[in-house]
Amino acid sequence: MSMTPERPAIRAHLTGWGRYAPSQVLTNADLERMVDTNDEWIVQRTGIRERRVAAAHETTASMAAVASMRAIRTAGIDPDDIDLILLATLTPDYWMPSTAALVKEAIGNTRAPAMDVSAACSGFVYAYATAQAYITSGMAKHVLVIGAELLTRFLDYTDRSTCILFGDGAGAVVLSASSEPGGGLGIEMTTEPQGAYMIWLPAGGAKSPPSAKTIARGEHYIRMEGKETYRFATRTLATTALAAVAKAGLTAADIDLFIPHQANIRIIEAVAKGLDLPMDRMFVNLDKYGNTSAASVPIALAEAANEGRIKVGDHIVIVAFGAGFTSGAVAIEWTADPARGVAGDAAVHADDIRVRLPVDWDSVDPIPPALAELMARPGTVDVPLDDVVPGEPARASAEVHA
Ligand code: ACO
Repeated sequence: MSMTPERPAIRAHLTGWGRYAPSQVLTNADLERMVDTNDEWIVQRTGIRERRVAAAHETTASMAAVASMRAIRTAGIDPDDIDLILLATLTPDYWMPSTAALVKEAIGNTRAPAMDVSAACSGFVYAYATAQAYITSGMAKHVLVIGAELLTRFLDYTDRSTCILFGDGAGAVVLSASSEPGGGLGIEMTTEPQGAYMIWLPAGGAKSPPSAKTIARGEHYIRMEGKETYRFATRTLATTALAAVAKAGLTAADIDLFIPHQANIRIIEAVAKGLDLPMDRMFVNLDKYGNTSAASVPIALAEAANEGRIKVGDHIVIVAFGAGFTSGAVAIEWTADPARGVAGDAAVHADDIRVRLPVDWDSVDPIPPALAELMARPGTVDVPLDDVVPGEPARASAEVHA
């Protein structure tokens, strides 16, 4: 119990946001050339039209560092003002060190402890909740929270039920201490281990260390029971979001925008139905990126802010589900000037940020053979990054710079 009850409560305000997506686009038509699938099936069953693929020189850390610098510039602080770095990912660059440590160096921070958070697609929300706890307890003033994934290097491009779903990218936010009202209000998180083997990557860990045998068995790729995962998601997303909203003292009708994990348009539609809300309260950009796991919520959050979908005083909810099974949601009162994000994006060019590589070691070619031809194509495809939810008016948007 605090002995100084007159001290004002510390709140965790969301002050910065940024995103990065690689420029290479993998369309449904590209996938038609790799597996027995078609654009119509993918669009109808998932809503996904294309996803991004990291180039050979890119890594989870490099994408995370660009998104982080954009979030830091948006917040208007110096990288060294960050007291703690939390990076959610299921595709770290290495088993060790943490990807967060590499990002710390790349953004020029000298002070912050840095660590990775493992909760699959819920990882960013879990990390956000952790950051909020650090801030409200007085242990940190500014926390950098990142979600970054390079999933295309862990997909079996002969398995049409998984390879069509996932893509690469990174998003980041800065949470800052404030005595003003607002910021993160209610948090809810769940973990249901009975779903542990519904989405998993069997080999590479202590239970099954990597070997020629595990590779031959394809156990280094993501596996998923799609139907069971779908059932979990539709059952959990709305209830997790509602629990966070209730803890914030609000009702679903008070929420201006939900920013759900971008896994499948049908799951998001089911959430809207479960909450009895129209689809225009759900932010959707999975058509452009597919499922980027821990990166999907912060990419969507940054995009929503930069497209003018959020204004000061709005109540928003970030909500995700994923392997574990896990789910998490945070209800947030928005306090930052949304216009800062576009300037933050423009201030940071991906080419200016470098993640240090080891001396005397280079990886084998990281590009999966199934994607090699695509990646060798000359030039990059520029697609407009505006939100394309059916029925929405077209709007101008900032581009993610390659
Ligand atoms: N193209 C064409 N046909 C396909 C494809 C494809 N890419 N994939 C599957 N099919 C076929 C199946 O073989 C099946 O054929 P059959 O009826 O002849 O057996 C048919 O399409 C229907 O397959 P279902 O699996 O029943 O399709 P469903 O409607 O369930 O959609 C999907 C599959 C999209 C994977 C869905 O179940 C889903 O989205 N699940 C949730 C997945 C998810 O969100 N995962 C993220 C987890 S988050 C994390 O932590 C990583």
